[in-house]
Amino acid sequence: MSTSDKTSIGVIGIGYVGLVTGTCLAELGNNVVCMDIDAEKIEALREGQIPIYEPELPELILKNRDRMTFTTSLADIFDRCEIFFIAVDTPPTFTGDADLSRVFAVMSELPGLSNKHHVLVMKSTVPVGTGLKISSELARQEMANIDYVSNPEFLREGSAIHDFLNPDRIVIGSRDPGIGEKVAALYRNMKAPILKTNIPTAEMIKYASNAFLATKISFINEIANVCEEVGADVCVVADGMGHDRRIGKHFLNAGIGFGGSCFPKDVTALKQIAGNSGYHFQLLTAVIEVNELQKRRVVNKLQKHLGTLADKTIALLGLAFKPNTSDLREASSIVLASRLLGDGALVKAYDPVAIPYAAKAVRGILLCDNILSVVKDSDAVVLVTEWDEFADLPLEEMKKVMRRPLIIDGRNFLDPRKVRAAGFTYEGIGRV
Ligand SMILES: NC(=O)c1ccc[n+]([C@@H]2O[C@H](COP(=O)([O-])OP(=O)(O)OC[C@H]3O[C@@H](n4cnc5c(N)ncnc54)[C@H](O)[C@@H]3O)[C@@H](O)[C@H]2O)c1
Repeated sequence: MSTSDKTSIGVIGIGYVGLVTGTCLAELGNNVVCMDIDAEKIEALREGQIPIYEPELPELILKNRDRMTFTTSLADIFDRCEIFFIAVDTPPTFTGDADLSRVFAVMSELPGLSNKHHVLVMKSTVPVGTGLKISSELARQEMANIDYVSNPEFLREGSAIHDFLNPDRIVIGSRDPGIGEKVAALYRNMKAPILKTNIPTAEMIKYASNAFLATKISFINEIANVCEEVGADVCVVADGMGHDRRIGKHFLNAGIGFGGSCFPKDVTALKQIAGNSGYHFQLLTAVIEVNELQKRRVVNKLQKHLGTLADKTIALLGLAFKPNTSDLREASSIVLASRLLGDGALVKAYDPVAIPYAAKAVRGILLCDNILSVVKDSDAVVLVTEWDEFADLPLEEMKKVMRRPLIIDGRNFLDPRKVRAAGFTYEGIGRV
């Protein structure tokens, strides 16, 4: 079948999820219309520039260039696509609820009743209940030609292409099994199980999954903190726990807490969803609080060695919220840097990828372009993001240019013996 025989698929909101979704749908053989309100981003994409750092993405866009078009016009989507995905951002409001204003902005521009059938597929993470409300709204506004399907996304930035194309499961929530089937057909060549549910269940699977992973992180962080008190090593403890198949090895890395555009907002949103329906989700309250306190522990560790941080120079290795992404949203580095600046420290930072994106996200930090320039004249180094480049630090050279040989390893990424053998004071999180 030639590509022109394929039905075009629309994607609205070309950020991390939307661009990866559009690219992977093109890779699966579909013509894809990618729409965003950010005209600069669309122009850049038309010229072949990729607005985010995501491994494999530039190559895959190049490979599927003939199947992908970029537009700022919603009308293009409705003209050309029966099925369209919404992947706009749903950031937290000041109360912690998900802000659905971008979703509603799209809704307000949906075309009125016509003889063309459309399927609106929600990829954005939206609170449980949103899909049913939107479905009713579509019917009420006499847009019964538009069906609604919930299809939450589970990809991880840094391995988004791989995750999209090799998912652990595909969740499709719909009122009408026939409509859900149309969306399921897009994934027919994937090996993953397809779970067909009602809409609220699909929405809850997304929140419950992220909240559970965040809970695992806060749990192991608390174990790490107890390990520090009793002389146990959390890395060995986590390994010992992970051998138990009921527990599993993933998400048991103690560190300075979770960040990013998903976990913090989704955990808080689930707590709010529960609260708004009259249920106090006690466990999640603790998960969030533990995560906040965990970032502060690094400051305590620095103070233990340096005393007051006023006029001390602290070098941060890594700014992105995790390796292999340029994303700085809710990154632990930003919280940590703000606290250090608040204590009067001079903060320097280096990140292999996120530096060009950092100027907007963080103010007051001296941005450096390599490891040696960031550690020069610093009183301590804090490893914040476990980039590969930091696995084998040039310890000898670093020691020569630093004021004090102190490394706080916020991700338990370095080999303590090697670091100490090079003459550094080393502290990890919950490690002996
Ligand atoms: N980033 C992740 O790792 C991830 C993973 C799974 C799910 N999600 C969820 O997917 C959704 C998108 O997340 P993201 O990280 O891709 O967000 P993002 O901020 O990277 O991208 C959102 C895009 O939507 C565009 N947009 C906003 N309003 C618009 C409108 N009215 N019309 C068209 N475009 C509009 C923005 O310009 C932006 O390009 C969120 O709900 C998020 O929770 C994210």
